[in-house]
Amino acid sequence: MAHEEQKQNRSVRQRFELNGRNYIVTGGGQGIGFAVAEAICEMGGNVGVLDLRQTPVDEFHTLAKRFGVKTAYARTDVSSAERLQAGFDQVMQTLGTLDGIFTAAGIAIDKPFVDQTPDEFMNIQKVNVFGSFYAAQLAVKQMQKQKTKGSVVLVASITAHRMASYNASKGGVFMLSKALATELAPFGIRCNTISPAFTDTAQTQVVRNADPTNAGVMWSQPPLGRIGEADEMTAAVIYLLSDASSYTTGADIAITGGIHVGRKTDYAMHINGAPSS
Ligand SMILES: NC(=O)c1ccc[n+]([C@@H]2O[C@H](COP(=O)([O-])OP(=O)(O)OC[C@H]3O[C@@H](n4cnc5c(N)ncnc54)[C@H](O)[C@@H]3O)[C@@H](O)[C@H]2O)c1
Repeated sequence: MAHEEQKQNRSVRQRFELNGRNYIVTGGGQGIGFAVAEAICEMGGNVGVLDLRQTPVDEFHTLAKRFGVKTAYARTDVSSAERLQAGFDQVMQTLGTLDGIFTAAGIAIDKPFVDQTPDEFMNIQKVNVFGSFYAAQLAVKQMQKQKTKGSVVLVASITAHRMASYNASKGGVFMLSKALATELAPFGIRCNTISPAFTDTAQTQVVRNADPTNAGVMWSQPPLGRIGEADEMTAAVIYLLSDASSYTTGADIAITGGIHVGRKTDYAMHINGAPSS
């Protein structure tokens, strides 16, 4: 569509619609990935989920009927290029063509830097960095084959202490997105990241169970005064996947309750002159 024609044909609401479009979500078997898969369906898009889980959360099976869209699920491991390719090919049989990908598959460990082993470090990089790289690459190859534009949304993170391997991996994902944004722009393929902070999913549950202090921090330290919910990540991802963000690439959206700019207690200190208890 010519640029002038495009300008006349778009309302804000229409630009967010994903009707008839096809997306892949890695790590969409639960958590943030599932919330985004559901949101894609709500906006009219078809979704293929790739995840290590044997089966996705039960609700996944309701999406096609609830929203009148197509869904597909393939069990795969994003850290293995071969297995990922097989899962990708499987869901593409349902989707046919592809308009974008959201790469939510990720793992974390919470341990002091000096205790993290080479195997633990490598495993995190393989899932978070290699997995995002391979999945984005498959999606981009598909979109280039189709000669269509598209959107890649990767998941970075604001980071936490005691998570050295994880932080290194998310730094890799963040910088990967910068390279893709510039390199793929001539193909009409955009690439952006979201950076969640503490979100109430299985990933943070493990950390919170390990040490109640962590749970306290997640609830007390974000300036908005609480942990985030998975469905609070979804609108930003829909924005980035849809035409609503047609002039946005190389961007990162921090969805953090404000903790990427300061802790709630820092602010209390500033106004009261003393740390809050
Ligand atoms: N929860 C948070 O506070 C938080 C904060 C910042 C970033 N993130 C990131 O958001 C993304 C989603 O995390 P979440 O909180 O929903 O976690 P989650 O553990 O609930 O979900 C992660 C999903 O990824 C899948 N997965 C893990 N390893 C995989 C592999 N090798 N191959 C395929 N699938 C695999 C899991 O089976 C699971 O369904 C991750 O990249 C995570 O690092 C989460």
